[in-house]
Amino acid sequence: MMKNDVMLVVGAGQISMAIARRMGYGKKIILGDRSLDNAKAIAKTLTEAGFDIETFEMDLSSRQSIKEMITYAQTFGDIKYLVNGAGVSPSQASIETVLKVDLYGTAVLLEEVGKVITKGGVGVTISSQSGHRMPALTTEQDRALAMTSSEELLKLDFLQEDKIKNTLHAYQLAKRANEKRTMYEAVRWGEHGARLNAIAPGIIVTPLAIDEFNGIRRNFYKNMFAKSPAGRPGTADEVADVAELLMSERAQFITGSTFLIDGGATASYFYGPLNPNTETGMAEGRG
Ligand SMILES: NC(=O)c1ccc[n+]([C@@H]2O[C@H](COP(=O)([O-])OP(=O)(O)OC[C@H]3O[C@@H](n4cnc5c(N)ncnc54)[C@H](O)[C@@H]3O)[C@@H](O)[C@H]2O)c1
Repeated sequence: MMKNDVMLVVGAGQISMAIARRMGYGKKIILGDRSLDNAKAIAKTLTEAGFDIETFEMDLSSRQSIKEMITYAQTFGDIKYLVNGAGVSPSQASIETVLKVDLYGTAVLLEEVGKVITKGGVGVTISSQSGHRMPALTTEQDRALAMTSSEELLKLDFLQEDKIKNTLHAYQLAKRANEKRTMYEAVRWGEHGARLNAIAPGIIVTPLAIDEFNGIRRNFYKNMFAKSPAGRPGTADEVADVAELLMSERAQFITGSTFLIDGGATASYFYGPLNPNTETGMAEGRG
């Protein structure tokens, strides 16, 4: 039997689904999530739309679990595509969990898939605009986030709990690490003739984001959308538009990059009405 190229999708959220739907036709999709219910719900929608998809219960914060998912996926063929849209947001998890899932887990996933990715393969991992709002780290800290062996990452001095202000700060560090790690791993993936990039979305409407819009921080979000150039939150399909380019043949010169897609919120945060030093500015936020 002819084996199809395999697309590994980690995280059964709206962003993953939009990318899988855009790029996963004609491929074997293996969809992993900590919540099998989430994975099955997305798999049902995609199966009913003609996609070939299997679910796999896995934990991004466990190397063992990532390796098991890779081994399972390889029974269907060579892994040629990776989409990583798994993660926890600052309002969902503790500092420890944010670092374990978003920072360590992503680093291990990029490393382990990089060992087996086939020639011509391509990966996209979802970072966040949050990493862009945090002030610059030192050159040494950036280098440590990029290059420290993944099992040593969470032992870095500046990632210890007493150095981290709150879960948002942990999330920002994790997303900054995603950007650096994508650069580091893109070099390794390149040795296999494969490419790796990241997308850093602004606020994207998903069930989780809708809860936030209706919650105690609703005015914060209203202000943010009103004062960003786009004037609205984004959609998962717009993230998939960027992923489609990055995963296509046209992007052969693009690897090791992180693409910000946030309706201009970061631009406004630094040089416009969302600047925290102005009356209208943002004092806090997720995303
Ligand atoms: N929605 C936004 O506004 C937004 C903005 C910027 C960045 N992001 C990032 O996009 C990614 C996906 O976000 P989304 O909005 O689609 O979220 P979502 O909550 O819809 O999906 C995330 C999925 O990840 C899974 N997950 C969480 N921890 C896991 C673990 N340890 N192992 C395996 N799976 C796990 C969850 O079960 C969930 O199904 C995340 O990395 C998030 O940080 C989202």
